[in-house]
Amino acid sequence: MLRGVILAGGLGTRLHPLTKVTSKHLLPVGNEPMIFHSVKQLTTAGITDILIVTNPEYVGAFVSTLGSGKEFECEFTYRVQEEAKGIAHALALAEGFAAGGKIAVLLGDNIFEAPIHHAVFDFHAQQAGARVMLKEVEDPEHYGVATLDGNRIVAIEEKPRYPKSNYAVVGVYFYDASVFDIIRTVEPSARGEYEITDVNNAYMYRGDLEYSFVRGKWVDAGTTFDSLTEAHQILLNAADW
Ligand code: DAU
Repeated sequence: MLRGVILAGGLGTRLHPLTKVTSKHLLPVGNEPMIFHSVKQLTTAGITDILIVTNPEYVGAFVSTLGSGKEFECEFTYRVQEEAKGIAHALALAEGFAAGGKIAVLLGDNIFEAPIHHAVFDFHAQQAGARVMLKEVEDPEHYGVATLDGNRIVAIEEKPRYPKSNYAVVGVYFYDASVFDIIRTVEPSARGEYEITDVNNAYMYRGDLEYSFVRGKWVDAGTTFDSLTEAHQILLNAADW
């Protein structure tokens, strides 16, 4: 069984003062709080056992907004990340929840025009290892950037000043149970965070990293006010799925 993890901690400083009011992931996007989108991506793909990782300040707001999961026909578990030490640090909190099984991880500020369930099916077909999702973008320097050689990823760089390709690694990751051992080997980066890119590169070095392309538009709604507006437009115009 594939379990889902939505990472919704962090400080949201780039969206101040909106994020003085509440978590970035509870801000309105389309007609709903942002995090509803990640929940629906998972449930549409048949993933109904979902862990939400959030920060201590807003955990109460998440619980009162999302509840038990009954409304979404899924079951939520909540965990608190005490300090925003990075995406890999937040993911480490999912080890007990994963219970030795495979997981699908979504960053709660990533918004997609179309479902990502094709990547979920691709991962189901994969024996072991990890899978990321790629999207061609015009501003790769803001993201993790993958270099491809044929159909293999040969490098991922986190926010490189001079990107070697236009393929952004978006905030959807699929891992087997060895991800938690890998996280324990990761050291903080120059910006003091435990980077998910280091985790993905560890799988790549093992020859265990696959990828799927994103279909339709994608936006990281947490980067700028423009990206938040774009996310809003994408969801207002997206077909129902
Ligand atoms: O959006 C895709 C990008 O997300 C990737 O291309 C990058 O490789 C990846 O590092 C990440 O970059 P960001 O700088 O955009 O990550 P950000 O700090 O905005 O965090 C993304 C989500 O992860 C956010 O919704 C909250 C959650 N998070 C973040 C941190 C730092 C946590 O739950 N805990 C944390 O400590």
